[in-house]
Amino acid sequence: MSTFQAPKGTYDLTPPRSATFLAVREAIAAPLRDSGYGYIETPGFENVELFARGVGESTDIVTKEMYTLTTKGGDQLALRPEGTASVLRAALEANLHKAGNLPVKLWYSGSYYRYERPQAGRYRHFSQVGAEAIGTEDPVLDAELIILADQAYRSLGLRQFRILLNSLGDKECRPVYREALQTFLRDLDLDEETRRRIEINPLRVLDDKRADVQKQLTDAPKLRDYLCDACKAYHEEVRALLTAAGVVFEDDEKLVRGLDYYTRTTFEFVHDGLGSQSAVGGGGRYDGLSEMIGGPELPSVGWALGVDRTVLALEAEGIELDLPYTTSVYAVPLGEEARRVLFGVVTGLRRAGIAADFAFGGRGLKGAMKSANRSGARYALVAGERDLAEGVVQLKDMESGEQSAVPVTEVAAELAKRLG
Ligand code: HAM
Repeated sequence: MSTFQAPKGTYDLTPPRSATFLAVREAIAAPLRDSGYGYIETPGFENVELFARGVGESTDIVTKEMYTLTTKGGDQLALRPEGTASVLRAALEANLHKAGNLPVKLWYSGSYYRYERPQAGRYRHFSQVGAEAIGTEDPVLDAELIILADQAYRSLGLRQFRILLNSLGDKECRPVYREALQTFLRDLDLDEETRRRIEINPLRVLDDKRADVQKQLTDAPKLRDYLCDACKAYHEEVRALLTAAGVVFEDDEKLVRGLDYYTRTTFEFVHDGLGSQSAVGGGGRYDGLSEMIGGPELPSVGWALGVDRTVLALEAEGIELDLPYTTSVYAVPLGEEARRVLFGVVTGLRRAGIAADFAFGGRGLKGAMKSANRSGARYALVAGERDLAEGVVQLKDMESGEQSAVPVTEVAAELAKRLG
C-alpha cells in the first residue's frame, strides 16, 4: 500500500471536482434554509448504544457496518453511520422540543461511515445533507420534505430520478402484518441466515435481491392490505399533497429501507444512471424513535441525500454545474519592488471584496500568465520596474486581450467599476 493512498473505500475531494461537491451541498441546503430549517451539527461519533437502539440491532448497518471503538476510558463509541439518531439525541439533550415551537426543523451536512463492501457509489466514508422535522405528526410535513428534496435535485438540473413512496404502517397495524408475513415466510425454502432474518426483521426478506427468493415471494402478504384506517388516510393525504404540488412519485410497496425506525411514510430517491447503488437519497417518518432512545413521544420525519451519489448522478446525466470562477483578478509582479506593490494592491482588492490571487515565487511572465489564465480571472494586473517608475500597473482584460495602464492608486476603483 502506498503511503499516499486513502484508506480502502474512501477517496479525497480535490479541486476542481471538489467545487461540485460544495455546490451540491449548497443546492440541497438552500431550499431547507428557505423553509425554516435551522442548521445543526453533532459529533462524528456517538455512544454505540444510540445507534444500536435507534437504527436497530437487526439491521446490517448496526450488526455489520458500524465502525466501533473502545476509548482509553472504556467508553464504547461508534463513528456515526447515519444522522437521524444523532440529531434527535442532540435535540432532546438541548430540549429543543420543549421550546414550544413544534416541529423542530433541522438540517445538517457531514461525513458518515459504514464498513460496507466498496463499489461504485458505495463507500466507507460518504457525505450526506439531511433534514429532520421533529415532534409533529402531519402529512403536510412529510409532503414538505419530499417536495424540498425534489426541488433541490431539480435546481441542480437532475431529471432522471424517480421518487419511490410507501407506507410501513404504525405500531398498531405493522405487528399484525409482521406476524402474517412471518407465518408465510417460515413455509418457504430459504437458507439459514434468511430464516434467522424472518424472526428478527421479516420485512427485510422482501428486499432480498436473489431471484430464487423473489420467485417465492410473489404471494407474500402485502402490507398495503394490513394498513389500519388511520395509516391509510395519512398515506392518501401525503400522496394527494405531492400530486397537488406536481411532484411525480411511484408507489412501491416493496420499499422497506435499511433502518428499523421507520413508521408510515417511507420514500427513496433513485437515479437511473447509477447502476446498482441507485438510491441517491431516502427517508421517512420515524414516530417511535424518540421513545426507542429513551425520549418522550415525538413523531418525526426526515431524509438524507447522499452527496457522493448526487455528484455521480450529475455526471451520469452529463450535467456540468455553472460554477463561476472564484478569482476575478490575478496579479503578476515582475521584480522585487513590483512584488511588494502588487501584493499591497491584491490585499486592498481582497479587503474591498474583490477576489484576487497572486503569482507567488517570483515566476517569469510566461509561467505567471499561464497561471492567470488557469485561474479563470477576468483581469490580470502586470507590473514591472518601468511601470512602477511611472506609478502605473498594466490592467489586462483576459477576455478581449486589451491592456491599459492604470495608476496604482486607482486600480481598486477601476476594477470595482469594471467588475460591477
Ligand atoms: P440511508 O438511506 O441509509 O438513510 O442513506 C441516505 C443516503 O445516503 C443514501 O440514499 C445514499 O445516497 C447515501 N449513502 C448511504 N450509504 C452510503 C455509502 N456507503 N456510500 C455512499 N453513499 C451512501 C439514512 O441515512 C437516514 N438517516 C435518512 C433519514 C433521515 N431518515 C429519516 N431522516
